[in-house]
Amino acid sequence: MYSDRIKHAGLRDKIITAQQAAYFFNNNTVVGCSGFTKSGDSKAVMQALAERALIDPLKITLITGASLGHGTDGRLSDAHVLERRMPFQTDPILRESINKGEVMFIDQHLSETIEQVKSNVFQPMDIAVLEATMIEEDGSIVPTTSVGNSVVFAQLAQRIIIEINLAIPLALKGLHDIYETGSYLHRKMIPVVSASTRIGGPCIKLDPAKVIGIVITNTLDSPAEIAPPDNTTIAIAGHLSAFFAHEVKMGRLTKSLLPLQAGIGKVANGVLHGFLHSDFENLTMYSEVLQDSTFDLIDAGKLLFASGSSITVSAPYYHKIFDDFDKYRDKIVLRPQDITNAAGVIRRLGVIAINTAMECDIYGNINSTHTGGTHMMNGIGGSGDFARNAFMSIFVSPSTAKNNSISRIVPMVSHVDHTEHDTDIIVTENGLADLRGLAPREKARRIINHCTHADYKDALLDYYERALLRGGHTPHILEEAFSWYGQLQQTGSMRMTAAAL
Ligand code: COA
Repeated sequence: MYSDRIKHAGLRDKIITAQQAAYFFNNNTVVGCSGFTKSGDSKAVMQALAERALIDPLKITLITGASLGHGTDGRLSDAHVLERRMPFQTDPILRESINKGEVMFIDQHLSETIEQVKSNVFQPMDIAVLEATMIEEDGSIVPTTSVGNSVVFAQLAQRIIIEINLAIPLALKGLHDIYETGSYLHRKMIPVVSASTRIGGPCIKLDPAKVIGIVITNTLDSPAEIAPPDNTTIAIAGHLSAFFAHEVKMGRLTKSLLPLQAGIGKVANGVLHGFLHSDFENLTMYSEVLQDSTFDLIDAGKLLFASGSSITVSAPYYHKIFDDFDKYRDKIVLRPQDITNAAGVIRRLGVIAINTAMECDIYGNINSTHTGGTHMMNGIGGSGDFARNAFMSIFVSPSTAKNNSISRIVPMVSHVDHTEHDTDIIVTENGLADLRGLAPREKARRIINHCTHADYKDALLDYYERALLRGGHTPHILEEAFSWYGQLQQTGSMRMTAAAL
């Protein structure tokens, strides 16, 4: 049974049910799980663990690559399994538990998690739950639609449960490029010199003696919810295209630009779609998540190669990619996230990073994570890894949220994820502010004049002019800087403050 999926004969005897696997977990232990932006995650064992916990409670620290799909984080959260969770999530139920203080969420740069695991910041990893396409003769596994942190989880976990997912075609073997950087003091150089460089092998190595169970599943990843481009994302993409065209004209970029990174969410995906109708050609991506837009750009002949840590696409795209995988085989690669997000590689390749801001301030500081400065949305993800190290760091955002009641450009951001030093360009539907080579006083005028929504422009200019009277390298009126949030809480809109100023 499953001889094509489990080539290690001894491991075929380890097939168990997810419910049996759920009883391997002990209270107060650390669990590492495959999964990156809802792809390549556990489809059965972690759900069975949530069910078990409803009758037999336990708590774990759960470490993944990034977010999990199929509501797994929500179910674990509902069953009070999660004591501590890192490094990223997008689940509404877990989000609520985090914001109630019930789950200790560690919001972390995605390149950094595995460094802390390797350096024993946590207690030793008890169990790793790893989704795989197949198991080779030597016990090594071919991952599925993501790699994430699974390479190190497989090495360090004391016990391993493998989920073989029959919904993933065997053709995916060879898609992954598995490379391990080693430990300090003798870290290896990461010899990636282009988006398409392959530096490792196709499988994640593990000790078959550590495998305590194999669970068979047959479920695709949770599909990405991709909104079609709208007027806002089309306008943002248009401003970016015009900007890149200008950079080409000035001789600072060629028509192939430099490897692109695009963040998660509908805005970043919409912006990438904008490249379909541009003059740019022979593009490459050195990113984390390969979204629908990646495959549209490949199909259109615009994108030569895309490197990421996961394929996270909408439902029709899974079929399109899996049914015709040979078309994409030599155009994509999936890598561990400490390689996709490695500072040195991002800087060496000269990546153009395009991430979405929840809000930015008049000096270019960016909040990617917190609503109103206090409540977690998703997490910083890889945006900081890329923004800090990119050749050019771009933040895109609609200029307002919630029917224009919130300005996403504010006097001072309520939480800082990326400082003004990491922000080169800000783009909203209203325009683009190129902040390169500018001092804070110049940045403020450019951001307000180019990017702000008309309803908030006068108020921001007024704030800035009055702040200037107080002097400073980065002028502010501190007692007023956060007043827009108070106004929002009291009246449901930031607009009143604008009128009042
Ligand atoms: N205040 C309150 N709510 C805000 C807000 C603000 N300043 N800015 C955005 N929101 C709300 C939106 O209204 C929307 O909620 P809704 O769907 O209920 O209306 C939600 O946040 C998402 O914002 P949206 O504008 O629809 O953009 P998005 O889907 O592209 O997501 C981020 C934007 C910032 C939440 C998302 O990109 C993210 O989590 N980024 C951090 C991680 C990251 O950048 N990773 C990149 C590497 S993978």
